[in-house]
Amino acid sequence: MERPRRLRSPLLRPLVAEVELSPRHLVLPLFVKEEGEKEPIPSMPGVFRYPLKELAQVAEEALRAGLGGVILFGVLPESAKDPLGRGAYAEDGVVQRALSLLKKAFPELLLIADTCLCEYTDHGHCGVVRQGPLGFYVDNDATLELLAKTALAQAQAGADVVAPSAMMDGQVRAIREALDRGGYPHVPILSYAVKYASAFYGPFREAAASAPQFGDRSGYQMDPRAGLWDALREAHLDDLEGADLLMVKPALPYLDVLFALKGRLAKPLFAYQVSGEYAMLKAAALSGYLEERRAVLETLYALRRAGAQGILTYYALEAARWLGEG
Ligand code: PBG
Repeated sequence: MERPRRLRSPLLRPLVAEVELSPRHLVLPLFVKEEGEKEPIPSMPGVFRYPLKELAQVAEEALRAGLGGVILFGVLPESAKDPLGRGAYAEDGVVQRALSLLKKAFPELLLIADTCLCEYTDHGHCGVVRQGPLGFYVDNDATLELLAKTALAQAQAGADVVAPSAMMDGQVRAIREALDRGGYPHVPILSYAVKYASAFYGPFREAAASAPQFGDRSGYQMDPRAGLWDALREAHLDDLEGADLLMVKPALPYLDVLFALKGRLAKPLFAYQVSGEYAMLKAAALSGYLEERRAVLETLYALRRAGAQGILTYYALEAARWLGEG
């Protein structure tokens, strides 16, 4: 009789286990603000906004834990925002200041910069907003220039990787050209290539104060009901435009997409376990409905099994600790 259980004995289980998960696969998202105190984010218990002066501490923890890197998001007071999101590309913008501070203090920690405008625009959209006959729209090609400037400013400040997340058509090409022309041909692009218009970004928008003031992002982010063709098209375009790493976001609700892309492109795939996924797990854990450690590691194994090389997750530090405990 065929007995799958024969391979489930304590001595054989580790030998036939395929999926590897190490701290080096995990990237920790960090919210950075200019001033004030370290501040908890209500919908993401355990996650904080860090003032520049307290950033080194958490960066050092990430380094000690052996994480693959950190990704930085800027948090601005409303009064510092404007329609064109100047804070994103200003030489002394908060992310640029964080990058140069961290690169000096921890040259061996991989720094990824999220390249978008929504945290810096007063209207909260990821690009330049204009009025059209049918209401507002986001002007794709005018936005490209600003995203390119942002990526260049981030590279100049010390970003090891730039990560465009605005979902503008042609953004990867525009950024690649700007980096090449600006003297940063060696800086890779991690593209949020396949990014859905998702309810799971809710807590992030609270954390970064980046919710759109009107309308939503469905004119540029992907429709969850779209077929696989949309994911393939987005991934192939970013591949052709010169992305070095391709990401699917959110993670768990789009495992099928991740799995379908695996092996189709000769580039590493990443997954972003987003704020709402974190909030969901954390809320269940705090209510005692789920065993946190097992549930979280199970989701991370699932992402690795489906094809993610790297995983962006707010659980990165805790997961690294759990993995170390064996
Ligand atoms: C910026 C950006 C967002 C996230 C990452 N980059 C917000 C959005 O698109 O609304 C979401 C990350 C998360 O939810 O954890 N565009």
